[in-house]
Amino acid sequence: MEISLKNQVAIITGSSSGIGAAIAKSMAESGASVVINYPSENSKDKAAVILKEIIDSGGTGMLCQCDVSKEEEVINMFKEVTANYGTVDILVNNAGIQVDSPFTEMTMSAWNAVIGVNLTGQFLCAREAIKEFLKRGINPSRSVACGKIIHISSVHEIIPWAGHANYASSKGAIRMLMQTLAQEYGADRIRVNSICPGAIQTPINKNAWETKQELDSLLKLIPYNRIGQPQDIGNLAVFLASDLADYITGASIFIDGGMTTFESFSTGG
Ligand code: BGC
Repeated sequence: MEISLKNQVAIITGSSSGIGAAIAKSMAESGASVVINYPSENSKDKAAVILKEIIDSGGTGMLCQCDVSKEEEVINMFKEVTANYGTVDILVNNAGIQVDSPFTEMTMSAWNAVIGVNLTGQFLCAREAIKEFLKRGINPSRSVACGKIIHISSVHEIIPWAGHANYASSKGAIRMLMQTLAQEYGADRIRVNSICPGAIQTPINKNAWETKQELDSLLKLIPYNRIGQPQDIGNLAVFLASDLADYITGASIFIDGGMTTFESFSTGG
């Protein structure tokens, strides 16, 4: 049984680092042409390093700058990618940020920034992707599905998170966005799912693993007793985008070392 994304084009938003970069590398390894999206000039160099690594290991891809919270930029990204590769088969809605603060101190700009990237960004990219999927139709030499969308959500889709109201709200909303799209476009053979990572070792949660003390306290929340690695998510994303997962749609798949079993209840309650 071979997992292949051969002949397919995948846009991975926010893939200049962390989980997005790992997904892009894994998809490229499985044969997809990957679009390394980054939000601004500041992250261009990092994105170029990821693309170089992909090309050096025999993959193909392109860079594309786009702030996913901006409608014009998202429309242009899809124009640029379809002009270059003809179409898009897979969208990984990965770009996400945290701007944390106690709730009563949360500013409008902290709220809007997180909702803008994490939720509006996923809406805009999904809308452009579905338009393109429907325009192209099913092409069995690429995939038995017309298109695949993977939303990168979080365990905080269901675990409330004090001090992170904007982030947790954005992730809770992604669940309804994902399920609604799966329902609305199922008959068109468009599969829409979410991956819900737990604590994965990336720059976004550096403060949770940087020192031994912080890591020990994090591990108390993880029955499997290790922090996740970006590659763990890359592996799942490739499977979920492939035809091996053709009957999976409308699902939130938790990949968290058991974090959603609420470990603190093992000795309490
Ligand atoms: C957050 C991380 C956090 C993890 C588990 C993720 O969605 O981005 O900062 O470590 O959830 O709480």
